[in-house]
Amino acid sequence: MTVASSAVRDTPAVIRGRVGDIEIIPLPAAMGAEIRGLDLRKLDDRGFDILHRAYLDHLLLLVRGQKLSDADMVAVARRFGEFELPPVTAEKVAHHVEHPEITVVSNVRVGGAPIGELGDGEVIWHSDYSFRRVIAGMRMLHALEVPPEGAGANTEFRNMYAAWDTLPESLKKRVLGATIKHDTAYDTNRKLRHGAVAVDDPRLGDGPDHPVVSTHPDSGCNSLFLGRRPRHVVNGCTLEESDALLDALWAHATQPQFGYTHVWREGDTVLWDNRCTIHRRGAFNPAARRVMHATQVRGHQPFEAPDAAARPPHPRGQLQL
Ligand code: OGA
Ligand code: MN
Repeated sequence: MTVASSAVRDTPAVIRGRVGDIEIIPLPAAMGAEIRGLDLRKLDDRGFDILHRAYLDHLLLLVRGQKLSDADMVAVARRFGEFELPPVTAEKVAHHVEHPEITVVSNVRVGGAPIGELGDGEVIWHSDYSFRRVIAGMRMLHALEVPPEGAGANTEFRNMYAAWDTLPESLKKRVLGATIKHDTAYDTNRKLRHGAVAVDDPRLGDGPDHPVVSTHPDSGCNSLFLGRRPRHVVNGCTLEESDALLDALWAHATQPQFGYTHVWREGDTVLWDNRCTIHRRGAFNPAARRVMHATQVRGHQPFEAPDAAARPPHPRGQLQL
């Protein structure tokens, strides 16, 4: 892509600064940028080129003050790829969510029935659809109603390129070429999925194998790909060895210095690259109302490039702010 302007992108730096009317301001964290001067309802090809470059470089984009209908969200997301359609749920039918691409993420109940997913309990660290063979690519959340600041309904993210790039050499050696069997039975609220069968030995459950070291199809850089922690196993290990290795990887990957915590305001649109990040949310006050609309596109089947060990680090984690 060519972006002729005052924006800076000297290799190995990342795009930032002003490009025409659009401003890309890195967030004071190991990932993320705020985009200013852009109305997502009026996104054109040139605006998308800039947005997409910033997305690959910063992993997460925040656009505040947006007023997006579901149709507007679908129009933005469609530019990032093919939709990964969420299941049609009873809540969706009951609450007339017309666009099959849109999921409601909310704790609000009407007549005792939830209008959306994820409630107000803890949502554990995860990447979206990591329990499928093809994982999610870009995921986007648009905040329609948010609890007051301080209510604890923030979303935390971590840069998994930075987690790989800073992993101690001894651990890097152990996980190059290794795969994790990702559990499909439990969701991020730790509940058994509808129709799933609980098994005692996680090695015997259903779920895809994904490489621990995942080479990004667009950036060419590696990230740690961990999915979720519970009931995941490193293939070819005893359960004890697997648990010890996964605990070490998770302890490293979730360190706050790799992350950004988003404190939501109404009208915020946050979109992130699910292929190289993880996220979580704490439990929050059930009396507070939180309503988000979400959509996502398909990513890819994670792979480790044959020359992964020789790939350069992703520049965002090293950005001098
Ligand atoms: C999601 C998700 C957490 C939150 O929508 O993918 O994990 O903060 N949401 O609502
Ligand atoms: Mn999620």
